[in-house]
Amino acid sequence: MNAESKALWHGRFDGGPAAALMAFTASLPFDVRLATHDVEGSKAHVRGLAKAGLLTDDEKSTIVHALEQTGQEIEAGQLVFVDSDEDIHTAIERRVTELAGAVGGKLHTGRSRNDQVATAFRLWLRHQLAAVTAETIELQRTLLGAAEAAGTTYLPGYTHMQRAQPVPLAHHLGAHAWALARDIDRLLDAGDRLDVSPLGAGALAGSSLPLDPAVTAADLGFGAVFDNSLDATSDRDFVAETLFVIALLGVHLSRLGEEWVLWSSSEFGFVAIDDGYATGSSMMPQKKNPDIAELTRGKSGRLIGNLTGLLATLKGLPLSYNRDLQEDKEPVFDSVDQVRLALVAMSGMIGTSTFDAERMAEAADDQTALATDLAEILVAGGLPFRDAHAVVGGLVKSSIESGRPLSELVAEDAAFAESDIAAAIDGLFEPGAALARRQSPGGAGTGPVAEQLQRLAERIDADAARLEAAGWSGHRSALS
Ligand code: ARG
Repeated sequence: MNAESKALWHGRFDGGPAAALMAFTASLPFDVRLATHDVEGSKAHVRGLAKAGLLTDDEKSTIVHALEQTGQEIEAGQLVFVDSDEDIHTAIERRVTELAGAVGGKLHTGRSRNDQVATAFRLWLRHQLAAVTAETIELQRTLLGAAEAAGTTYLPGYTHMQRAQPVPLAHHLGAHAWALARDIDRLLDAGDRLDVSPLGAGALAGSSLPLDPAVTAADLGFGAVFDNSLDATSDRDFVAETLFVIALLGVHLSRLGEEWVLWSSSEFGFVAIDDGYATGSSMMPQKKNPDIAELTRGKSGRLIGNLTGLLATLKGLPLSYNRDLQEDKEPVFDSVDQVRLALVAMSGMIGTSTFDAERMAEAADDQTALATDLAEILVAGGLPFRDAHAVVGGLVKSSIESGRPLSELVAEDAAFAESDIAAAIDGLFEPGAALARRQSPGGAGTGPVAEQLQRLAERIDADAARLEAAGWSGHRSALS
């Protein structure tokens, strides 16, 4: 940074700001990320001023040109910041005034940093929400692709982390994709509520100048304009919602990651992670570690922390702007950055993993995993479920105690002797046979899963179309 120059608000102050004040309060080191969007918001504001007759056409062009040049200088890393640049907003205004001369002093007419910051932040975030949504859809497509490729592969489904019933691998992968569908719904919904322009709210009360917030809102492509200037400058719901949606998405990714950690262990051996998406050990030459999955699990903690931290910051604030609100940016930058990295890495890891169908089948073919199907066969024969449960439970107990296969005990049991029932259990103990029998919609049967994957594919396409059609998503700039 260069030597001192006066802060933009120096008028009523005798001395310059203390170094400790600037070191503690400056947000430039992080809000420089909003530069492009501050320039975008400022240009719209300048056009609004001209439309209101507060700037001549020449003045408008001069300031817009200076804003564009300032934006280019920042992008190229050429703008030299000075000590009095509190944040990216003051830095841009200072540079514009250097370039445009005295007319630059008109840029901040009828505007406060309070509405300016909220505007730039919303502009930045709508682009980022669109990117997070697109990347979540990509991960869904990866899961769907793996599910379609899984064919008839099946594995044990678990409850309480104990083998429960065999399920198709496609069903298991699909379950994660459906959770992501809810995240996408929430992302799109949050984007709609984010899409409101606060520009024109001023510091807190609007302005006595003839400015129309609807003009700048339309210019910036916002879907709506604020109704209450106090609310517009103090509202950070869009930040909290974004952090929540990302935190829950992170929790879903963490649970998916946890399964990859388990499945890639020697104990499970269900999946092999591609070398490009695994890491080694600095000491143990044999190791191949699932670091992407672990870090996805680990980082979900910080995504939750970012949400709870912001909510704690907001809870005691009176209306309207308070400097505490400057604390809104770092958690969002962090959550957005981390979840985007995780989405891309997880998608790469899952898309290149190979499944060990034999190993999965071996784990699922434990005959006792068919206990529920056996009980349901007795129910179909007229036995009350509770009685059927007890009959099969008794056979499982005998099997465990005697070490004899359940199929033998079933074949010998009187409850299964009746011809219809005997016919129903014929072939049931063949590997994977139980899956073909399950018919309930949405269930883990071969038929329902095929229908489900069809619905999932349609849902993904529909969500991708919703993203493209969302007014706020069309403003994706080339910059991230
Ligand atoms: N960097 C600050 C923020 O992000 C700017 C707002 C300062 N506004 C003020 N009225 N002091 O919140």
